[in-house]
Amino acid sequence: MDPLVLGIESTCDETGVALVRGWTLLGEAIASSMEQHARFGGILPEVASRAHLEEMIPAVETALTSAGSALSDLDAIAVASGPGLVGSLAVGVAAAKALSIALDRPLYGVNHVIGHVAVDALVHGPFPEKFVALVVSGGHSSLLLINDIADNVVELGQTLDDAAGEAFDKVGRLLGLPYPGGPHVDRLAREGNPESIAFPRGLTAPKDRTRHPYDFSFSGLKTAVARWIESCEDEGREVPRADVAASFAAAVADVLVTKTLRACHEHGVDTLVIGGGFSANSQLREMAAQRCADEGIDVRIPPIRYCTDNGAMIAALGSAAARKGLPPSELGIGVDSAMPLTVVVG
Ligand code: KG4
Ligand code: ZN
Repeated sequence: MDPLVLGIESTCDETGVALVRGWTLLGEAIASSMEQHARFGGILPEVASRAHLEEMIPAVETALTSAGSALSDLDAIAVASGPGLVGSLAVGVAAAKALSIALDRPLYGVNHVIGHVAVDALVHGPFPEKFVALVVSGGHSSLLLINDIADNVVELGQTLDDAAGEAFDKVGRLLGLPYPGGPHVDRLAREGNPESIAFPRGLTAPKDRTRHPYDFSFSGLKTAVARWIESCEDEGREVPRADVAASFAAAVADVLVTKTLRACHEHGVDTLVIGGGFSANSQLREMAAQRCADEGIDVRIPPIRYCTDNGAMIAALGSAAARKGLPPSELGIGVDSAMPLTVVVG
């Protein structure tokens, strides 16, 4: 029988714990400290770490209960050891080490970003031999070629500045929307005309296409939105907020989908997995669904609650690593706030 793996996620503001066997999710628990951060307009790392401390043991207990399992049933412990906020990561890694030592079970410190991809197998079944993954959230925008989710991930590109969700949050602020602005901009954009303003598509000029074929850049777009709003105000015109949101959202989705589809074609793959909290974005979902259908690419996106940070993604990746027979992490493993994407298990 496949090993029963407990996964712990604490890279940012969610404390997630889940149990996975093979590609089957058996139980889970999640707590979020977002409400404590919202009024500050950003995550407060110290507040997030303290919330993880308070939530960790109850989350482990709830996940075990929901799976109908006891601690002694576990075969391995997985934890997101990076990338993320140092203090938050430290809480999860310490909890995982304590369980590993107390139960005498192997410990796998795994990559959070690759976990965003792994979770899709719990929903849509085993992965094909080779596929492309786009991981987009408030902290990451990465394009990956996955030959084997457990030990062969190639980073094709990433954002050179803001992540997609971060750009949405900043534009949300420019439009006077509450934090985190992403979902609000998405909603407003649905009421506007996406073709009304020609906002720039970052890193798509011919010279950038050779130097940065799969990298993203959203800070120029964000600045263009800021300038556009300022010029309206200078001229005493009312800002057409829905049109600004729609044109901005279309620019982000266009660049993400165009570069991702090019990666699929150039690497001869016909499956695309999209993960990360930003895959909740409706403009991205619609554009990806339509263009992938046109171009014969099978697109897999987990349900939204498995796109945002959660424990199942870490248990899923730990399960892949354990089944592949990878050597566990050393017990002295530290947290790696900038864990490279080529490292699946640290
Ligand atoms: O994965 P996630 O929960 O946390 C990070 O690891 O960052 O992603 C949250 C990010 C935030 O920036 C949020 O504003 C953005 O994803 N987001 C959205 C939408 N839902 C969440 N951005 C645009 N449209 C959405 N529907
Ligand atoms: Zn994440």
